[in-house]
Amino acid sequence: MEFVERVRQLAGIDLSQYKRPQMERRLAHLRDRRGFSDFRSYAQALSRDPSLLRELVDRVTIQVSELFRNPERWADLRARLEVQAVAPLRAWSAGCAHGEEPYSLAILCAELGLEADIWATDVDERALEQARQGVFALRALANVSPERLRRFFEPTDEGWRVSSAVRRRVRFERHDLLTDPYPHDLDLIVCRNVLIYLTDAAKQRVVVGCARALKPGGHLFVGSTEQLVGIDLCGLRLVAPFLYQKADGP
Ligand SMILES: C[S@@+](CC[C@H](N)C(=O)[O-])C[C@H]1O[C@@H](n2cnc3c(N)ncnc32)[C@H](O)[C@@H]1O
Repeated sequence: MEFVERVRQLAGIDLSQYKRPQMERRLAHLRDRRGFSDFRSYAQALSRDPSLLRELVDRVTIQVSELFRNPERWADLRARLEVQAVAPLRAWSAGCAHGEEPYSLAILCAELGLEADIWATDVDERALEQARQGVFALRALANVSPERLRRFFEPTDEGWRVSSAVRRRVRFERHDLLTDPYPHDLDLIVCRNVLIYLTDAAKQRVVVGCARALKPGGHLFVGSTEQLVGIDLCGLRLVAPFLYQKADGP
């Protein structure tokens, strides 16, 4: 479809790999709101008007997040890292939005005294620019305890800024889970609330990529609505709710 191709060229996002009914509903809503009668005229306008393109990318990528989203799941992860972690921990936060997830992980590691190299990626470069700043409004910090807020954040005029000691542990880079090569020898992949938006075929490819990217014994941490059912888990097994582990050894 011409529209999908245009968005791929302009934004580097392949809409055909996201669940179609939801995506179509969202985009048709935007198109109607901007007064275009069909996707062809909307596609032409996207090439001319960067603000329309920006609006579309925001709508497609859904960057809703918060630090320690689903706190009980982060507590499970913390417990596992406490007993099993190798140092330095090689971790990847894929689909990291504004950095809420990799900074949560960096905070856990700091609390556990664990050296960590955290690679944080997203398909949206603008989200990454914001992530590098590490500044959050209070609503993103609802699950951050007063003690963590005191220890790992400093108040600024724009919001609460993650301390430089935590920021230093995280490297942000653009990466598209659907088209770019995956890293390897990882101990942990945090990929939460991204898979739910993908077609089954795309989800399967991401899970295969993640399974290969992990070391034996490494973990994949997914979002709290993302049971990996009906797909080949490629040697990953569920070890805690929404936490999968790659088999140890061949
Ligand atoms: C709902 S947010 C999830 C943020 C965070 N992981 C969490 O669970 O709170 C989804 C994120 O995935 C990113 N994303 C969507 N498609 C992607 C892709 N193909 N490759 C990498 N990131 C992608 C979006 O830009 C967005 O930041």
